[in-house]
Amino acid sequence: MRITVNVNGEDRTREVEPRHLLVRFLRDDLELTGTHWGCDTSNCGTCVVLMDGEPVKSCTVLAVMAAGHEIRTVEDLADGDRLDPVQQGFIEQHGLQCGFCTPGMMLTGRALLDRNPDPSDQEIREAISGQLCRCTGYLNIVRSIQWAAREQAAVAAPEAPATATATGGRA
Ligand code: FES
Ligand code: FES
Repeated sequence: MRITVNVNGEDRTREVEPRHLLVRFLRDDLELTGTHWGCDTSNCGTCVVLMDGEPVKSCTVLAVMAAGHEIRTVEDLADGDRLDPVQQGFIEQHGLQCGFCTPGMMLTGRALLDRNPDPSDQEIREAISGQLCRCTGYLNIVRSIQWAAREQAAVAAPEAPATATATGGRA
């Protein structure tokens, strides 16, 4: 079958078999190997990508099911040399060790912050609950996403007038 999938903002067309998995389409056909492939049984969640903005396990999605949809992979997180706050958060808070689960974790974090810019600890844990990390114990992953939320909020906040600081709020 001939399918066209919008991947990271670009339409990509390929001939695929009906049984071809999205994770294979991304890794083998498009050479986007940032999407990892761990278990093939829908357990580990390392293969998570965003489909129309929502995290999906790409080993459980057929490539043909992604036709006409927008897929976002970890390769699209950074804007040139500028890392996404979630990526920066994983650096700042040591959110990875071996890094195998990290692309999927970061994409889930991105999707969460897009719909909820100020998630609670519990909401972050629920968001990543379908993904396994065998290294970090999850605490630093949660902290990484919290760091990204604070960073986004700080960047979005209007700068306080200099006079407010200098005069205790009076101009
Ligand atoms: S590879 Fe493990 S859930 Fe997809
Ligand atoms: S950092 Fe190794 S599996 Fe998560």
